[in-house]
Amino acid sequence: MSIVMNVALFLHLAAVAVWVGGMVFAQFCLRPSLADVSPQLRLPLIEAVFGRFFNWVGASVIVVLASGGFMMARFGGAHAPWPVHVMAGFGILMMLTYGHVRFAVFPRIRRAVQAQKWPDGARAVDTMRRLVALNLVFSVIAIGSAVLSRGF
Ligand code: HEM
Repeated sequence: MSIVMNVALFLHLAAVAVWVGGMVFAQFCLRPSLADVSPQLRLPLIEAVFGRFFNWVGASVIVVLASGGFMMARFGGAHAPWPVHVMAGFGILMMLTYGHVRFAVFPRIRRAVQAQKWPDGARAVDTMRRLVALNLVFSVIAIGSAVLSRGF
């Protein structure tokens, strides 16, 4: 493997680690720990945490797309092994889900916190939780496909 491909793979995996690791932390460590905290404290904290995390995910999306697209082109684009297409497909689904959470669901949380409408905020947080869980499932499929692609 050429040095450029190694660098691309390194960036790809680093960005994936930030994105998927952050989702695991949010879903399995942060969320359960906040279950008994009052909405007045919980929702502003969630807004602050995810406001920062989504910037990291935005950067990860750019790096995953650029490095993945570059490697895929080197693997022959449309002629790349089918598991690479599966990875890319689920990668795109993850990006669309992230875009929806960031630009449709998260602003609802922000508005609810500003207006102190806690039930509205809690509903939007629940929607975000489901979509993050969905993205975690997509990420497991994408990583599994990536590993499968080694056999080709
Ligand atoms: C548009 C999205 C994506 C494209 C075009 C893409 C493309 C690629 C390509 C071409 C490789 C090299 C494959 C190989 O060395 O056999 C790769 C590696 C990898 N990708 Fe992706 N990828 C994308 C998204 C993702 C996502 C979202 C994840 C995980 C959540 C992911 C996880 C991995 C992993 C773990 C590897 C390392 C595979 C290995 O070396 O065994 N990729 N990706």
